[in-house]
Amino acid sequence: MKAIRGATTVEIDSAEAIKKNIKSLLSKIVEENELCEDDIICIMFSNTSDIRSYYPAKAAREAGFFNCALYSSVEPDICGGLKKCIRVMVLAEIEKTPKHIYLERAVNLRKDLTKKLNIAIDGPAGSGKSTIAKILAAKLDILYLDTGAMYRTVALACVRSKIDVNNALVVKNLIESIKISIKYENGTQKTILDGEDVSDKIRTPEISMLASKVSAHECVRTSMVNLQREIAASNSCVLDGRDIGSNVLPNAEHKFYLTASSEVRAERRMKENSAKGINQSFCEVLCEIEQRDNQDKTRKIAPLVKADDAIEIDTSKLTINEVATLILGKVQEKI
Ligand code: DC
Repeated sequence: MKAIRGATTVEIDSAEAIKKNIKSLLSKIVEENELCEDDIICIMFSNTSDIRSYYPAKAAREAGFFNCALYSSVEPDICGGLKKCIRVMVLAEIEKTPKHIYLERAVNLRKDLTKKLNIAIDGPAGSGKSTIAKILAAKLDILYLDTGAMYRTVALACVRSKIDVNNALVVKNLIESIKISIKYENGTQKTILDGEDVSDKIRTPEISMLASKVSAHECVRTSMVNLQREIAASNSCVLDGRDIGSNVLPNAEHKFYLTASSEVRAERRMKENSAKGINQSFCEVLCEIEQRDNQDKTRKIAPLVKADDAIEIDTSKLTINEVATLILGKVQEKI
């Protein structure tokens, strides 16, 4: 059995506000801890004495928690304590480490739990960003956000609409008419274009090159960066890309810039491609990688660049595990 903690606050002491915020708090606890109704043994609330209009336990019952024991009590008045605050402890039969949830003004009670962890990993194609980012996200139990997938999806939309990716105006019109979103299925990112999962369709050499071209347009970057910032603001995640540390999240606490020689990167890309049944010669892959590096580094808006405060790691002679361990160590030093 595990104890899941949480808290929320209300701005006005009304039954409506209490019911609403208790419902949000419990829903988030259930969702984040993947609880089933039968897992929950009891839910205990305590609230500050400035809450008088409704029992949190009653609000929980009304929110659908019928089978577990519910209990409410009033806390002593603590000088300087958070006002209109409701704390909860959920006892549940779960194996996993509990995820505690603090909402509204109660986020300030546990900054260590509520602060979002954003790790920025930038670098050129084939430097190992996505492999490393996935490992880190799994080890830290946070999301992996592949930002390149978003630009690739714009490129796919251009191909499907037979649009010239170099023409900023038509690309702008296209961007305004499509919807790109990200969802997670069992922790894996799915990239959605107008409701269709295009995660696999965007992984071709043609799309790689077009993504690099289309990502140079301001309208594309603005739209994708907004989406990336939104996701990063509400989730702890490892983001990989070209401009995460320098532009998307300039205040991220953890920034890494991965590099490797063009030859090593081309070798890695060739292996990845041939595993997917895409056969290209080494020279072809090397040439594409170098062309893409050049496009990504020389574009006017948010080019591929190492942020001043990013830690640079040359992965040419390191194994995947060595890089992941190195980065994990640096992240853990700071948290
Ligand atoms: O990481 P990737 O190969 O999937 O990225 C495809 C292209 O998208 C890359 O060549 C440049 C662009 N991109 C970008 O401009 N900014 C990012 N944050 C991520 C990718």
